[in-house]
Amino acid sequence: MAKLGSPWLLHPLLLPVILWGVASTLAMPPPPPVQCNSTGCTLHNSYGAWGDRKDCLVPSITYPSNQQELLQAVANATRSNLKVKVVSKFSHTIPKLACPQTPSRNAILLSTEKYNASIDVDTAGRTVTADAGVGLRDLIDRVEKEGLSLVSAPYWEGVSVAGVISTGAHGSSWWGKGGAVHDHVVGLTLVVPGKESEGYAKVVRLGAKDPLFNAARVSLGMLGVISKVTFSLEQRFKRSITYNFTDDDGIEDAFMDHAKKHEFADITWYPSRHTAVYRYDDRVPLSTSGDGVYDFLGFQTNLIAVSKTVRATEKALERARNVNGKCGVAATTMAYKKLIANGLRNNLIFTGYPVVGYQGKIQTSGSCLYSPPSSTGSSCAWDPRIQGLFFYETTAIFAATKFGDFLRDVRKLRDMKPENFCGVDIYNGLLIRFIKASEAYLGQSEDSVVLDFNYYRADDPTTPRLNQDVWEEVEQMAFFKYGAKPHWAKNRNLAFLDVQKKYPKLNKFLAAKKQLDPNDFFSSEWSDEILFGRAGSRGDGCALEGQCICSEDRHCSPAKGYLCQPGVVYKEARVCRYSAASVS
Ligand SMILES: *[C@@H]1O[C@H](CO)[C@@H](O)[C@H](O)[C@H]1NC(C)=O
Ligand SMILES: *[C@@H]1O[C@H](CO)[C@@H](O)[C@H](O)[C@H]1NC(C)=O
Ligand SMILES: *[C@@H]1O[C@H](CO)[C@@H](O)[C@H](O)[C@H]1NC(C)=O
Ligand SMILES: *[C@@H]1O[C@H](CO)[C@@H](O)[C@H](O)[C@H]1NC(C)=O
Repeated sequence: MAKLGSPWLLHPLLLPVILWGVASTLAMPPPPPVQCNSTGCTLHNSYGAWGDRKDCLVPSITYPSNQQELLQAVANATRSNLKVKVVSKFSHTIPKLACPQTPSRNAILLSTEKYNASIDVDTAGRTVTADAGVGLRDLIDRVEKEGLSLVSAPYWEGVSVAGVISTGAHGSSWWGKGGAVHDHVVGLTLVVPGKESEGYAKVVRLGAKDPLFNAARVSLGMLGVISKVTFSLEQRFKRSITYNFTDDDGIEDAFMDHAKKHEFADITWYPSRHTAVYRYDDRVPLSTSGDGVYDFLGFQTNLIAVSKTVRATEKALERARNVNGKCGVAATTMAYKKLIANGLRNNLIFTGYPVVGYQGKIQTSGSCLYSPPSSTGSSCAWDPRIQGLFFYETTAIFAATKFGDFLRDVRKLRDMKPENFCGVDIYNGLLIRFIKASEAYLGQSEDSVVLDFNYYRADDPTTPRLNQDVWEEVEQMAFFKYGAKPHWAKNRNLAFLDVQKKYPKLNKFLAAKKQLDPNDFFSSEWSDEILFGRAGSRGDGCALEGQCICSEDRHCSPAKGYLCQPGVVYKEARVCRYSAASVS
C-alpha cells in the first residue's frame, strides 16, 4: 500500500502493472446482476452493458432453492403464459441470452443464485452431480477433497455449473475428451414446460445415450431450465507448467504440434511485441512435489483507484490518438506478465519454472470474486460500479485446418504496422486455445482452435476507437473469410451473422427444442438474434459497436473522420477507418 504513494509507480506506463499486481483485503465482490425495485427488475451482465447498451427490464424474478421450487416456478410461468429465462449469480455471458423479453410484462426471470445446496460425488463411478447454481469453485474444491479432478474448466471460475455448459465454455485441450466443459457432462436434469395434465411443468432426466442429450449439453437456455448437471471426473492429478516467452516466428506451423504435444497447451500471441508465449502444461504424477497455484493476473483483485486511473489513462491515449503511448503500456504490461509468470505461483510467490500444482488450483481462477461484502477499496478490474476497465471480447472458433492461414493473414496485417496491435497487447494479446470435436449439436463438429482477444470499448457508443479498423478487419477475417464460429457467450453482434449456416446439426437442435418447449417459452428475440444471426438495425454509427458491418460512411463516424473502407489484407472486409484528411 505504501508504495502506491510513490510518483514513480504512478507513471502511466506502469499503471497496468499496479493494476494487476496489487491485491487488497478491503475489496468488494461483483454486484448482483439483477437489481429490483417496486416497479420491476433490471438485468445486467457482469460488465454492466449489453451489446446494444439497452437495459433488460423484467417485471419480476424468483429464486428457487431446490428442484421442487424450480418446477413450481416453471409451472407458474407457463400456466400464465410468461416467457422464462434463467440467470446465475454471476451473469458473465456478454450477449443478452438471459434476457426474457423487453419491454414486456409477460416474462419472468429465474435466478439459480439460491439453488446451490447439493454437490453429490460418486467416488466409485467418478462423477459429480451438482445443483444448477453451484459455483465452479465450490464444485472443484469438493471433488478435489474426494481425491478426484474435473479435467476441463474455463480459465475464469466465476460461473455456475449450469451456465458453464449452456454456452460452450472451455479451457484448452485436444487430449482425452478435450477442452470443452460440455464434453465432460454425462447426464443432466431439465425442468421443461408441460401440458395442463402434467401440471404445466415436468422434470426430464437425460443420460448420455438419450437422443435429447446432445441438444441439452449446449442449449443457450432455450430448452428449459437446467436443474442438475453430472460431470465425469478423473483421479486427482497434478500439472506442471512452464511459459516460454519467445519469438513469434512460425506459430502458424507450430500451433498444431504444440497442442498435440501438451495436454493443456495454449499460446498467447502479442503481435506488437513479436512475441509468442507457449504454455507447456502437462499432467504429472501426484507424487511430484509442488503445491502451486494459478491466480491469473487479469482476474486478481485490484485497487479501485488504480483501475480508475488505468481506464482514465487509456481514455486519454485514445483521445490523443497516441499509438506509441499504447505501445508503451503494452510493453510494460507484457514485461510484468513475464516477470510474474501471468500469476502462476510456486507457493506464495513465483520463484521459477516449472510450477507444479493440483489440477484444482491450476485450471481456473478468479480471486477478485471473493471479497468481504461490506468493504470497499478494491474489486474486479471491470466492475461496472467503478469506471474501471471496459472492453470488448471477440472469440472466434476455427476449424484447426484453417487456423494457420488465418494467422498468416494477421501477420501480414501486423507487419504493415506492428504498433496497430498495441491496443490488444495491453489486454491479453491473442489467446489461442484448443477444443476437440464434440457430439453436442451446438458444439464444434471438428477439432478446433479458439482465438480470444479483448480491446478498448468507449464509454459512449458514438465514440470511434483508435485502430478500430484493424480489429474489425481481424474480426471479419475470422468470421467471414475463415468461417470461424462465434463463441455463444462472447462477441459483438456482427459475429453471429449467418451463424446458423455454420452448424450442420442446428436442425437437430431445433427439433429437440420443438419437443421440449413447443410453445417457445424459453425463446426470446435475443436468443433468436444469436442463434439465427439476424442483422440488426443499420442506424448511424452502428458499426462502431459491432452492431453492423458498415456499408456507408454514416455507419461509422464521418464527423470524427471515420469512414467505411475496405480491409487492407482481407479486401472484402468493410471497416471504419480514420482519415485525418476527412476531418475538416
Ligand atoms: C426502478 O427500476 C427501474 C428499472 O428497473 C428504473 O427505471 C426506475 O427508475 C427505478 N425506480 C426507482 C424509484 O428507483
Ligand atoms: C406459484 O404460484 C402460486 C400461486 O400463485 C404461489 O403461491 C407460489 O408462490 C408460486 N411459486 C413460485 C415458486 O413462484
Ligand atoms: C451456496 O452459495 C453460498 C453463498 O454463496 C455459499 O456460502 C455456499 O457454500 C454454497 N453452497 C455450496 C454447496 O457450495
Ligand atoms: C522456447 O521456444 C523456442 C522456440 O520454439 C525454442 O527454441 C526454445 O528452446 C524454447 N525454450 C524452452 C525453455 O523450452
